[in-house]
Amino acid sequence: MEEWPSVIHREGKTLMRLFSNPDEDKVGPAIKGEDPVFYNPAMSRSRTRSVLLMQYAIENKLLGNGPIYAVDGLAATGLRARRWLNELPKESAERIHATIIDMNQYALDLALKTHDEFPPDHSEGELKAINGDLRSAILNQGWHWVDIDPYGSPTPFLDTAIQSMARKGIIEVSATDTAALTGSSKNPLLRRYGARVRNDGLAHDSALRVLLATVGRVASKHERRIEPLISIWDSHHLRVSMRVIRSIEGANKIEESLGWRVYSPTHEEVLASIKSGLHTETSLDILPMDCFLPLHYPIKRDDERVSGPMWIKNMGKKEVLAFMTEERVLQMCGPDPMKEDLLQWTEKEFDYENRRILRSVKNLADEANAIETQHHILVDYLSSWLKIGSPPSPKKLVKSIIEAGFSASLANYGKKPSIRTDAPWDLVVKIALEIHPPM
Ligand SMILES: C[S@@+](CC[C@H](N)C(=O)[O-])C[C@H]1O[C@@H](n2cnc3c(N)ncnc32)[C@H](O)[C@@H]1O
Repeated sequence: MEEWPSVIHREGKTLMRLFSNPDEDKVGPAIKGEDPVFYNPAMSRSRTRSVLLMQYAIENKLLGNGPIYAVDGLAATGLRARRWLNELPKESAERIHATIIDMNQYALDLALKTHDEFPPDHSEGELKAINGDLRSAILNQGWHWVDIDPYGSPTPFLDTAIQSMARKGIIEVSATDTAALTGSSKNPLLRRYGARVRNDGLAHDSALRVLLATVGRVASKHERRIEPLISIWDSHHLRVSMRVIRSIEGANKIEESLGWRVYSPTHEEVLASIKSGLHTETSLDILPMDCFLPLHYPIKRDDERVSGPMWIKNMGKKEVLAFMTEERVLQMCGPDPMKEDLLQWTEKEFDYENRRILRSVKNLADEANAIETQHHILVDYLSSWLKIGSPPSPKKLVKSIIEAGFSASLANYGKKPSIRTDAPWDLVVKIALEIHPPM
């Protein structure tokens, strides 16, 4: 047995034990097998959003009124489940029966012991552990909430995870095989997800949509439909969170939500997109950079412009994003400087953690205004498309589109400046050209 880790670390409001101080500036994944238990600080924002999403789901009765059986499927330190219990308010936490599953018994022991050592202030909620392979252990019972956060691709876990879900529940799925999902490794993308992705500026958006389509298809196989709640690209990982609802009728309609993204579409393709309700009516004087087409549209599979099959409906829900405000995340997940502090943090250290927590909801509440729209426009790409030299300021673009009477917002899209809008393409072009006339 390894020694007990001596470093006490805080993420959100929750204390844990580690073998060494984590490298907070590291953006990529921690190396598998470096420590006896895996911990990656780059995933802290994802865990923070998980706490918020669970509270949203509870407040909005998406998880019924009774006990909530929640599984942190590939738990490692168990921090995600521990943060649900620690950071949700008492009335929510008291309904949660959380189970952590991992093949690493030492990780489970550490998680349970740490939870005893640093329990929630309200002492509510239950934490249990199962040692085993998630692919079978998850079938031990039905779950209202399933979290899948693997090394690499989640595909091996999806089938049994979906089958294990209650009639209505929520699944959150991470993927770190971003090279595959974004189309830079074409063979694994085709093998694991049955898709192709054009590796351009929207590749991470396409990747999220391919992941949604993959979970949606597995769900439909098991007579369920999905409803995406939030889909995020954050540093090295992609994460999609969705409701899973038992419905044969919904499962039958899966193909209505799937289709293609076409870069540099022809007149004919844009017209087909408009006709299918996937593109706002627009004049076609300047063609858009891309558009969606339904699954039944006859595309050529070797056409390099085409990505998919992918999810072509909304990737998130307005109300969920609107819930993810700066005030709420600080109130729920921010450490309280007024409490007795084992770590004896200085004011500066509290400020630093709060800033980190705020980054987990960057632009999200604003993006709620336009998440249910079709255009996701990268401003750098827009400027080269229109040959206008420097890109228009995303903020100015959003402001002018809203003034013209349409929805628009900055997007939370990795570090790439982009906007979402339902404005017709010709209006977007007109506004961009007004901000920056052609050179
Ligand atoms: C990426 S880590 C999980 C990180 C964790 N969710 C977090 O938020 O810190 C993956 C974990 O899955 C465990 N694991 C890998 N394959 C597994 C399987 N088939 N069944 C159960 N656990 C598995 C590993 O031991 C490891 O702890």
